[in-house]
Amino acid sequence: MQQQIERVALAIALAKRVLVITGAGLSADSGLPTYRGLGGLYNGHTAEGLSIEAALSGPMLQRDPALCWKYLAELGRACLGARANAGHLAIAELQQLKPQCWLLTQNIDGYHRAAGSPPERLIEIHGELAPLFCQSCGAEDAELAEHLERPLPPRCRQCGGILRPPVVLFEEMLPEAAIASLYAELGKGFDLVLSVGTSASFPYIIEPVLRTREGGGLTVEINPGRTDLSDEVDVRLQGRALDVLPELLSHISAQGNCK
Ligand code: APR
Repeated sequence: MQQQIERVALAIALAKRVLVITGAGLSADSGLPTYRGLGGLYNGHTAEGLSIEAALSGPMLQRDPALCWKYLAELGRACLGARANAGHLAIAELQQLKPQCWLLTQNIDGYHRAAGSPPERLIEIHGELAPLFCQSCGAEDAELAEHLERPLPPRCRQCGGILRPPVVLFEEMLPEAAIASLYAELGKGFDLVLSVGTSASFPYIIEPVLRTREGGGLTVEINPGRTDLSDEVDVRLQGRALDVLPELLSHISAQGNCK
C-alpha cells in the first residue's frame, strides 16, 4: 500500500486538473451511517415496513410529510451531531494546494464546506440539508437544529407551509446547476480522479471515472471494500479515507511541486 500511496502522491503532485469524488464512506469516519454495505441505512426497512428509499422520497414528502420528516430528522440529527474528519480536511488541503482540484460529493452533511473546501469548486450533486425552505412561499429558514426540537414537519413562519431541506430526495431530479457544473468541468478533462468512500451506485459517479481513464488520466479508488469501480480503476488504495487521505497529503506536500 505504501508504494501505491507514493505513486498516487506523485501523480497528484504532477497533475494539473484533479477530480475528487466522495460518498458516505468519507463521513462514516465521523460516525455517520453509510447507505449500503455493513450497517447501511438501506439494508433494513423502516418501522412502518417501508424501504428507506420510499420513506425519503419526493412523493412521500408530499403524501405524508410527517413520515418523510421523521427520517429526514434522523439524517439531520446525525449530521448535526458529528463533524468533518481528517479525511475532509485533507481534501480541503488538496484543493488549496491545487487550484484546479474539483470536488464532486454525494454527501448532504455539509462537512466539505465546514472543512474549508472552496464552494466555487464544490459540486454537491445531492444538495445539502440546510438551509430549509418553504415549499409554499419559498421563504428560507436557517434553523434546522431548532426545528428538530419541535413537532415535525417544520412549518414556515411566514405562511405556515411545510418546510423542506434542499436535498435531492428519491424520485427527484438532480440540481441542474450542479449537473451543468459537473459536465462543464468534465468537458475540460481531468488528469486524475480519486473516488473516495462511495459504492459508485449512480451513472453520474461512474462516468467521470471512466471518462478520465479514457482520456489517459489516472483513476484511483480509496475504499476498504470492493465496488463496481474496483476493477476499473488503475489503483485501489484499500483502506479507510481517514487513514489514507492524510497519508496521501503528507506525501504530496513532500513532493513540493504542486502547481
Ligand atoms: N472510508 C472509505 N470508504 C468507506 C469507509 C471508510 N471509513 N467506510 C465505508 N466505506 C465505503 C463502503 O465500502 C461503501 O463502498 O463507503 C461506501 C459507502 O457506499 P454507500 O453507503 O452506497 O454511500 P454512497 O456511495 O455515498 O451512496 C450514494 O446513494 O442513496 C444515495 O443519497 C444517497 O448520497 C447517497 C448515494
